[in-house]
Amino acid sequence: MKNKIIDIVAGARPNFMKVAALFAVADKFPSLTLRLVHTGQHYDEAMSDVFFRDLGLPKPECHLGVGSDTHAAQTAQIMTGYEGWVNENRPDICLVVGDVNSTLACSLVAAKMGIPVAHVEAGLRSFDRTMPEEVNRVVTDSISELMFVTEPSGLLNLAREGRPSSAIHLVGHVMIDTLLRKVPEAKTRSFYSTFGLSAGEYAFVTLHRPANVDDPKVLAEIVAQIDWLAHNIPVVFALHPRTKKQLQQAGLYKTLQSTPAIQLTEPLSYLDALSLTMNAKVVVTDSGGLQEETSALSVPCLTLRDTTERPITITEGTNTLISGDWDLFRTAIARINDNCYLQEGSAIPLWDGKAGERILRILEEM
Ligand code: UD1
Repeated sequence: MKNKIIDIVAGARPNFMKVAALFAVADKFPSLTLRLVHTGQHYDEAMSDVFFRDLGLPKPECHLGVGSDTHAAQTAQIMTGYEGWVNENRPDICLVVGDVNSTLACSLVAAKMGIPVAHVEAGLRSFDRTMPEEVNRVVTDSISELMFVTEPSGLLNLAREGRPSSAIHLVGHVMIDTLLRKVPEAKTRSFYSTFGLSAGEYAFVTLHRPANVDDPKVLAEIVAQIDWLAHNIPVVFALHPRTKKQLQQAGLYKTLQSTPAIQLTEPLSYLDALSLTMNAKVVVTDSGGLQEETSALSVPCLTLRDTTERPITITEGTNTLISGDWDLFRTAIARINDNCYLQEGSAIPLWDGKAGERILRILEEM
């Protein structure tokens, strides 16, 4: 079989656990050469390097080092940088994951240079074009030659958009591959004890979506609800850099800091975050990945968004969309506190730790 060179693109925090699942099984596919391309969209030690260590990722063969900027400037810098790399080191396939700006930028470059794009986590749709991620998903899928889908809704969405069924494969979820591989190690951590807490007795909160954190009024309402939550269940709140900045600018950071039942932390390593998630009584989040991870771990999840591009986490998992309905939020917390939360999680088809292998097999046989 001819050797194929595959660029695996990662740039932002949620990408690292997804690509790690491919590198973890790469040895089984000797005809494939995987090259890690790090765009540098996330660059802090806590947002990037720590994931390389926790996940055993190889050193990137290409590091574009773009950093933060406006959407246009960041996307343009990734495109220019990746074009330069491809001109010198042309791959046979460009594989992108998820829905961040790095995903979109490298797909555009590859597609225009005649390199097939493979999109992992294709077909997810929130149908909310105000989310930058939704624009990234729709455009990336429209120029991908291969689409790897995590849940049945993705098949329907891609069919509706006229994408050919021969190019679409339901393979499961690489992020869950990594989670299943790392659960035993995370179990040895008991990271909650760092905060003086016990397993199953705290809420783990994460927020970073612009729709929740960039508008001071919306952010103030959420902070008030987290304060209410902390009167019922102790809270660990992991702060994304965007969220910390917005809380400080809105004068809300000190409010949170001075509430004894709320403990703030910097962004967490993969294993620490997994340890906190799997032992939480409830996770309150706006992250896409955490909606799925909590479903896989059977931990109740309340999502502070109006929509989700991951509907299987509601129908089969443990997720409830709060959609700004704080009565619903409080009722759900009361139920969780009484151990009678209604969303039971069941095993989601193909979220079995083998998605990475399925993807590489398809690429090998292509
Ligand atoms: C990005 C993704 C989002 C993903 C999230 C996960 C896009 C459009 N958004 O959002 O889908 O869910 O990552 O974290 O791609 N910053 C740092 N250090 C870093 C990186 C960022 O301090 O290492 C700060 C910068 O001030 C930056 C801000 O965080 O302006 C936002 O970073 P950016 O990558 O633009 O977007 P995220 O909100 O992280």
